[in-house]
Amino acid sequence: MHLKAADSAADVIMLDLEDSCPAAEKAGARSVVIESLNTLAWGGKVLTLRINPVDSPFALRDLVEVIPRAGGHLDTVVVPKVESAGDIAFVDRALSALEAEAGLETPIGIEAIIESARALRDADAIAAASPRMRCLVFGVADYSASVNMPLTSVSGHGEADGLYPGDPLHFVYSRLIMCGKAAGLQVIDAPYGNFRDSEGLTRAAGRSRALGFDGKWAIHPSQLAELNRVFAPDDLEVERAREVIRAYEAAQEQGRGAAAVGGSMIDQASLRMARDVMRRMEAVRAKETPPE
Ligand code: GLV
Ligand code: MG
Repeated sequence: MHLKAADSAADVIMLDLEDSCPAAEKAGARSVVIESLNTLAWGGKVLTLRINPVDSPFALRDLVEVIPRAGGHLDTVVVPKVESAGDIAFVDRALSALEAEAGLETPIGIEAIIESARALRDADAIAAASPRMRCLVFGVADYSASVNMPLTSVSGHGEADGLYPGDPLHFVYSRLIMCGKAAGLQVIDAPYGNFRDSEGLTRAAGRSRALGFDGKWAIHPSQLAELNRVFAPDDLEVERAREVIRAYEAAQEQGRGAAAVGGSMIDQASLRMARDVMRRMEAVRAKETPPE
């Protein structure tokens, strides 16, 4: 799996020590993770490690074993089942100690999975809990379990449709995005569980993108092309963004703060959105043509 991941078209790889790894396998999994981080050719991908929840019997040892041996290859640590800002502060301080021990100069970032009622309530404090914070991730399966939502699909990973007249997760998504963005973080959606249902994936990813999520976890390599497509600006979006920038600049030269493009009013907010599209387009291009 690690080899396949290294060769894949994903932007970020998360090596997992938590829920995909049975309790009896944790020690062995740490060794595999260390070996993979140190030896595989990851092609410039962002590398993350999901440790176990901070109050489990495993998390502290996950950090103590992996960071000194392979922390130099890690961009972030993903902390699951975060319950409070204190959980993040704990990981922050532990990372500082382990980085110092290993002589690592670049601080490792932290991503927090928000997957309980309490975490969602305190998502603002969690997002601001450490300068290491990079991103909030939604954990749909654990969140659904935490608030007692009915299990409408086998995996519980975002396949529930039709039980509620509206999107049962709308508030959750919006709060998560608001709290993450207010702290200057990226916000990433949970994976879509049914990897054979490509239409469902397209629907779920489109909905996440429409609300402002920056990306979505993949649970299977077959989902990557579609996720990359949905979260990258398409040609029409880029063309519109260019038009907005051109029209806005022309209006400014004439001393005006607003202009019309194709019958629609545009102003500074439109310009901000257009520049964001261009920034994301450049990021996709940079990934497609990595430096020699
Ligand atoms: C992911 O960790 C989830 O619980 O959905
Ligand atoms: Mg979870």
